[in-house]
Amino acid sequence: MHRSDLSARARRYLMCPPTYFDVTYAINPWMNPAQPTDAGLARAQWERLRELYLALGHTVEVIEPVAGLPDMVFAANGAAVLNGQVLVAKFRYSQRIGEATAYREWFVNHGFAEVYEPEFVNEGQGDYLYDGRLMLAGSDFRTDRQSHGEAQELFGCPVISLMLVDPRFYHLDTALSVLGDGDVMYFPPAFSPGSQRVLRRLYPNAIVTSDAVAADFGLNAVSDGRNVVLSQTATTLMEALRERGYTPIGVDMSELRKSGGAAKCCTLELREDG
Ligand code: ARG
Repeated sequence: MHRSDLSARARRYLMCPPTYFDVTYAINPWMNPAQPTDAGLARAQWERLRELYLALGHTVEVIEPVAGLPDMVFAANGAAVLNGQVLVAKFRYSQRIGEATAYREWFVNHGFAEVYEPEFVNEGQGDYLYDGRLMLAGSDFRTDRQSHGEAQELFGCPVISLMLVDPRFYHLDTALSVLGDGDVMYFPPAFSPGSQRVLRRLYPNAIVTSDAVAADFGLNAVSDGRNVVLSQTATTLMEALRERGYTPIGVDMSELRKSGGAAKCCTLELREDG
């Protein structure tokens, strides 16, 4: 089914330059500290992503990176934001705990009146994706499922708990992407059997992808309702998106992928609505 009524909506994103990016520890199966990283290339890929958002008419805010926090470039993990309300992250692993302070300060200093300090572990928009009506929430590799109840109380939006079961897809945004209101694409085997049934029930017409596409970070995509920014090698997925009326735009995130992240991981959407 091709929808010709798809329209882009200008978004506001928060990004963090990969100034101190490196792979110095391994907290997901993609990370290998023995493999060298290229800081210049990471920066160029990140800049291209930022410029692309600007060219698409979006606003990009930039947070100051902090030395010693090599994963801070993955801004999606800093918080979940809906109705202008902010659920600050509480990271699973000690190596990233310091990022939460930096992100919290950014929100407090940028006019967000409701900045909420979480009780339970959550990795922000890495595990919280809003579909225009429902908040889809991943667990348990990173975000604690008790955080889902906390998010529902804060945002006053129904939270749908989805259990991730494949360690390669440790954040929800590596296995599922919201394309537009009520439209998603995802890799079913990344989810528990019950969560797969929930997804089928909510999104009977969703694009489902292969293992190869998911492992290529094809689902770590950023959509504005029409333009879908994703891994440039995900060509079969791009074809499926075009068939539905979306405009896929490929980006090269090869350096940041060495840490287990791609376009969406580098992008935190600041939503005033919801
Ligand atoms: N190395 C980071 C970690 O394992 C990558 C985070 C990717 N972010 C994301 N939203 N999936 O925590």
